[in-house]
Amino acid sequence: MKLFTKVVAASIFTVLATGAIANSASSLKHAEKATDLRQSIFSLLGSNMGPLGGMAKGKIEFDAEKVSTHALRINQLSLMIADYTRTNTSAHKVKTEALDKIWEQPDAFSKRIDDLTQASANLQKAALSGDVSLIKKAIGGVGKTCGGCHDDFKAE
Ligand code: HEC
Repeated sequence: MKLFTKVVAASIFTVLATGAIANSASSLKHAEKATDLRQSIFSLLGSNMGPLGGMAKGKIEFDAEKVSTHALRINQLSLMIADYTRTNTSAHKVKTEALDKIWEQPDAFSKRIDDLTQASANLQKAALSGDVSLIKKAIGGVGKTCGGCHDDFKAE
């Protein structure tokens, strides 16, 4: 227990010293809440990507206005990922597919977030153009940034 306290104190010191923004969950309950919130953001991303994927594959009727709405939401949600993944839950037994790398390699993770922000902004622009093939390409571009982050930071 003493060692644990020392480790916690040391990591708090490291965070303060480096100015890193991640903070560790202080209890299992805290970790569970943080995990819930983190998964909520990704779950909402999934619910907005679903129809886009359906339209790109021709399974759902194409509707540029709906594309705009989903692209806007994805863009806004992308801006929340950093905040909702800030709490490091890796020291607790929570049910999660988030890999510890998220908190070990914050710059690489941050880059993946930026990729999604950019790809979704690009899709917003494409949707305004009304050009179906351009829009489909841009949907693919968004999907790639989801998959790119999952490859590195999410368990299979
Ligand atoms: C910056 C990294 C990153 C990006 C970008 C990203 N994801 Fe994820 N995603 C994750 C991580 C990490 C998890 C695992 C979260 C957990 O289990 O705590 C996850 C989990 C999910 C889940 C499961 C959520 C749940 O209820 O447990 C879905 C669905 C999902 N992502 C969809 C998407 C879609 C769709 C996109 C793109 C529009 C996307 N993600 C972009 C990292 C990312």
